[in-house]
Amino acid sequence: MNLAQFPRRRYTPYATPIEKLSNLSKALGGPDIYMKRDDLLGLAAGGNKTRKLEFLMADALAKGADTVITCGAVQSNHCRLTLAAAVKEGLKCQLVLEQRVPNSYDRYASGNNFLSALLGVEAVHVVEGGSDVSGKMQEVAAALAAEGRKPYVIPGGGSNEIGALGYVACAEECLAQLFDMGVNIDHVILTSGSAGTHAGFLTGIKGNNARIPVTGISINRKSGPQTELVYGLAQRISEKLKLENPVQKDVVIVYDDYVGKGYSRPTQGMIDAVKLVARTEAILMDPVYTGKTMAGMIDLIQKGVFTKGENLLFLHTGGSPALYAYTDTFFGLKQPE
Ligand SMILES: Cc1ncc(COP(=O)(O)O)c(C=O)c1O
Repeated sequence: MNLAQFPRRRYTPYATPIEKLSNLSKALGGPDIYMKRDDLLGLAAGGNKTRKLEFLMADALAKGADTVITCGAVQSNHCRLTLAAAVKEGLKCQLVLEQRVPNSYDRYASGNNFLSALLGVEAVHVVEGGSDVSGKMQEVAAALAAEGRKPYVIPGGGSNEIGALGYVACAEECLAQLFDMGVNIDHVILTSGSAGTHAGFLTGIKGNNARIPVTGISINRKSGPQTELVYGLAQRISEKLKLENPVQKDVVIVYDDYVGKGYSRPTQGMIDAVKLVARTEAILMDPVYTGKTMAGMIDLIQKGVFTKGENLLFLHTGGSPALYAYTDTFFGLKQPE
């Protein structure tokens, strides 16, 4: 695939490492686990949105934008990283934050909320859970345009066919690294949220005819709608790349067993998984995305879906700043629901 045909900014001056997690593999007594460390991507505190923003910000700049607007939950990693990219590019950034858990916005909260304040967000617009968030972003954009400014709206999670190119690129980067390492991966495990990561990575695997199954762990939706979301976006990316053999629906694998009571609500599995990875590998996962995905991978190993003798690649998509907004949960002062 020729990704160089698309404008791109660079926010990470290296390929993120793939690490063998020998201690975690030993503790689980199953397959050999490798981790793609996208938590070490560039911009403030890294994470998967950095890859998407390389393409999205290039598009915003090509269109002459002076302000970016995006949306997310109250502890959104995507919002923090969009703001960080805007800072790098000398643009302003406004955020629409959705209270998916009622009354969850606290302007003095730690984690990503604090980082957004530190990075100098221009304005935060808080809306209730289930609101028309895209409509609100359009309203903010119209108000800025009326003042003569040039807003550029980035969808939630940066998950459109432009942003998802970042994860097509990630799949290519992984394949090249694994070839160099001489490691043949049997399964990739990643988080499936707004779907750009899942759809982009799958398209990258398909475009390289690599035939490695990709398992998505949903952190929000049921597997039916999540599969549709991933498949729809993968089709649009395949079209953008003019793939002769686009991604088919039957390769979209989604487990919805690890969401718990809902998006961002802690589960015991997540707490145990985050602690286990911290205490075996000294790697920080996050409570909302990668912690639940790790809980899923551990459970699927225990159920024998992934077996000894196989090689797994876990995609670490970042998010550790959100840990600091969940200290009560990890100290055991607040019980998971
Ligand atoms: C740390 C982290 N991992 C995974 C995801 C999910 O990625 P996507 O929205 O592309 O499905 C997100 C999304 O916000 C995230 O912040």
